[in-house]
Amino acid sequence: RSILRQSRATVGSGVGFAVGWKAANRPNTRRYAVPDAPSEETLAALSHEDREFPPDPAFAAQANGTKELFAEADADRDAFWAQQARDRITWSKDFEQVLDWSEAPFAKWFVGGELNAAYNCLDRHVEAGNGDRVALHFIGEPDGDTKDFTYAEALDQVKRAANVLTDLGVEKGDRVAIYLPMIPEAVFAMLACARIGAPHSVVFGGFSADALRSRIADAEAKVVITADGGYRRGKPSALKPAVDEAVSGGTSVNKVLVVRRTGQDTAWNDDLDLWWHEALEAASAEHEAVPVDSEHPLFLLYTSGTTGKPKGILHTTGGYLTQAAYTNSVVHDVHPETDVYWCTADVGWVTGHTYIVYGPMANGATQVLYEGTPDTPHQGRWWEIVQDKKVSVLYTAPTAIRTFMKWGKETPAKYDLSSLRVLGSVGEPINPEAWVWYREIIGGGKTPIVDTWWQTETGAIMVSALPGVTTLKPGSAQAAIPGISVDVVDEQGNSVENGKGGYLIIDKPWPSMLRGIWGDPERFKETYWSRYPGVYFAGDGAKRDEQGNIWVLGRVDDVMNVSGHRLSTTEIESALVSHPKVAEAAVVGATDATTGQAVVGFVILRGDAAAEAEQDGDALVANLRNHVAKEIGPIAKPRQIMVVSELPKTRSGKIMRRLLRDVAENREVGDVSTLADSSVMDLIKTGMSDSG
Ligand code: WTA
Repeated sequence: RSILRQSRATVGSGVGFAVGWKAANRPNTRRYAVPDAPSEETLAALSHEDREFPPDPAFAAQANGTKELFAEADADRDAFWAQQARDRITWSKDFEQVLDWSEAPFAKWFVGGELNAAYNCLDRHVEAGNGDRVALHFIGEPDGDTKDFTYAEALDQVKRAANVLTDLGVEKGDRVAIYLPMIPEAVFAMLACARIGAPHSVVFGGFSADALRSRIADAEAKVVITADGGYRRGKPSALKPAVDEAVSGGTSVNKVLVVRRTGQDTAWNDDLDLWWHEALEAASAEHEAVPVDSEHPLFLLYTSGTTGKPKGILHTTGGYLTQAAYTNSVVHDVHPETDVYWCTADVGWVTGHTYIVYGPMANGATQVLYEGTPDTPHQGRWWEIVQDKKVSVLYTAPTAIRTFMKWGKETPAKYDLSSLRVLGSVGEPINPEAWVWYREIIGGGKTPIVDTWWQTETGAIMVSALPGVTTLKPGSAQAAIPGISVDVVDEQGNSVENGKGGYLIIDKPWPSMLRGIWGDPERFKETYWSRYPGVYFAGDGAKRDEQGNIWVLGRVDDVMNVSGHRLSTTEIESALVSHPKVAEAAVVGATDATTGQAVVGFVILRGDAAAEAEQDGDALVANLRNHVAKEIGPIAKPRQIMVVSELPKTRSGKIMRRLLRDVAENREVGDVSTLADSSVMDLIKTGMSDSG
């Protein structure tokens, strides 16, 4: 019998730059993930990288980051952070204590201090005489659709929006959901929430109505801010229908504020819906930012974990803002008076929160905000933007760099990229080849590259080179930045020697650390603090090379990283199983040359559907892929789905995803000795060669 079908076009396309780049998964045998350390093979594959790029003295002379910062932080960590907080942030009331760790792992930073994040990102720059400085060069996707906002203009919008939210009954502490495309109103909406002390919960515009609904419900959001639509690959793409669906049938939401972006037809509910532009025009332009406690919640951001239910990561105000501003200064080396900074992330992800909104704006930087995709209307769009706006600091993801590599160096070569002076990378490991291409082709062979490791949970950059200080090694995130302490440890929690691999941990609290999981303190302790007592377990495998540089190898739990987006295998499995034709499903992240990992699903069909698959497997597979996109969002759509008759399981019934990854990556299948039925893998492999 033929037990397996797959979309043939994609078979085998996934084995890319380094098989085994990501650490292998092992099924959970305890309640928390007990992962495999990176294999010897993975470590060996990386150990021949010995290119080095020492800092350019001219760059070092002007850099914000210095060697002295390391010494200062080592001498007295608390004093170091207190100084960062006082130098970089304006407090309406000074703090009394730097860190209260007495209820660990629930930290309090800058205890007793009061501040307002929006005031720090806007008002104080205007008060200092910089109101005419451009805050945002907005570039819409349609060619020529651009608009600049100065700090004074941005402040005006945010004050009005804050008044509108207050008029709608949003009070300090109430949650507001934001579901917007990459338009200036996304930034203004976030800062308006911060201005009145209402934590925002931004939901990425690519998520489905179901995903939005569950996030609204978990946070009990009172108001949703959305748009009629946004532009995507040359066409208006509606957003509001997803909100309509998400708030149908009674939810915590009592108003929906709608930005008019595309002007497309939009269903309207007079009881609920309100146009953003009408409300802002009618609102007062006067508004005093509300000072909040340093530990007042600033935002929730949902991220994938090892179970199907996304976690609402909680960040508070003082510590988060301090580390956001500090890292944007010393790592991106942003000089607000002269630089044009561009972070290409979406505000729906933490990178957009910290490095579009809070870090650069607290520093008073000028930045590009781009709505569209890199290939609309042509593959040179980004480089055209760099040239036109004279972008000097660019922060993007390895998946984008690998895509540009694929498109060829001829495209960027057509543009003047000489304004670039710092390049950053975030979201997943950057393989040395992509790193070198980035420096040579985009950076003209001269720019430092900062590969920055951090997470939604860490709030801000933790591990990175400091440009101007660090001798760069392509592919390595290098070392903890000043003020941060990380380690690579073995199963027992002991530091590994140089040249060895293990797990990345953070062994000292840091200002922008998450303060918990919304509504679930137990899950917070269990997920991050139970693996090694008192130590934060990041969920990433890492190695230390002979010089002690850190190489992040990727997730060691059931979290996948696709184009820098975090996705949970369990969440996609649940989506597949919710389809009436699917009996059982297993999902793995397979190495992919462009996206880092790709989603590969294995499904067992229900009785009749199996017969149907015999007839028209391709249609069924297409149907299942679309089903996942509809349930979670297009980013979760599997690259490949294989129909199988069995799944490899241990005797205790856990699916062995490690073996499925071997199949998905066209590798020799590994050790099957713990399988309940070791012939299952033969069955799957035979099925594969039958159909592929
Ligand atoms: C991965 C994104 C290697 C890692 C800021 C982490 C990285 C997860 C890097 C967090 C990097 C992020 N090198 N891996 N420079 N940066 N990661 O929460 O697996 O979306 O745990 O935050 O991305 O993803 P998140």
